[in-house]
Amino acid sequence: MDAIFEAAEHIRQARYVTVLTGAGVSAESGVPTFRASDGLWEGHHIEDVATPEGFRRNPHLVWEFYNERRNKLKQVRPNPGHYALVELEKRFAERFTLVTQNVDGLHQQAGSNTVAELHGSLYRTRCTGCKDLRIHDLEPLGELPKCQKCDRLLRPDIVWFREELPKEVWQRAYLAAQACDVFLLIGTSAVVYPAAGLAQIARNRGPAGDEGATIIEFNLEETAVSNSVDLGVYGPSGVTLPKLIEQLSMNPS
Ligand code: APR
Repeated sequence: MDAIFEAAEHIRQARYVTVLTGAGVSAESGVPTFRASDGLWEGHHIEDVATPEGFRRNPHLVWEFYNERRNKLKQVRPNPGHYALVELEKRFAERFTLVTQNVDGLHQQAGSNTVAELHGSLYRTRCTGCKDLRIHDLEPLGELPKCQKCDRLLRPDIVWFREELPKEVWQRAYLAAQACDVFLLIGTSAVVYPAAGLAQIARNRGPAGDEGATIIEFNLEETAVSNSVDLGVYGPSGVTLPKLIEQLSMNPS
């Protein structure tokens, strides 16, 4: 049976669907992923641009990295994969949670409402002094932006390596993984925890012996978790996700 047809069958019978997306879902919008050969971590040292120590050492370099990523967002738009997830959310309404590792805001731009941003957002800054949280559009923030309230240095509201995820966002994601009977892993290499652990939480959900969630992976290729998912749908998510919605619409439950 065709993988998309099979995925649609599982989703059609689902009571609650939770999705975890990674950089792959934005790749077809022109946003670089992290671990591909031309990915962000090829051209930059994680230690220098995505850790609190790197920021303390050289905030200029960190802001140069994030201002460049923010600036590039001006040219990108959601792709058909983002819009397909909006359709999926409409189908399940309050029985649906979209958890993302992405910081590009493209799910929200496409119209998704239930977005839990595990790793923060390029559209927000946080003051290193008074913790003031600000939302910005994509105007330049300057080389070393300062807080309007206390004049201390601002940092991107991004979760860096070795930092805790925002408690309330993680709690939402954790509960959504426990609540779902179908969990979709889309466009993620599933190597960064705790985000990557959500699939296992979904599988082990509920009382012992309870049937865990069905885990379905949408990716270009197999990943570190492919041998533990129930079904793999391989191809560009900008193609496979719209096909999934088309399949679901054929005989709506
Ligand atoms: N369609 C579907 N999947 C794709 C596509 C596509 N068009 N293009 C790439 N992919 C897949 C790749 O095969 C890979 O498995 O997307 C995944 C991207 O993996 P990463 O670059 O590791 O990105 P991600 O999984 O989001 O990284 C997780 O790591 O660096 C941290 O905080 C950062 O949130 C990020 C986290």
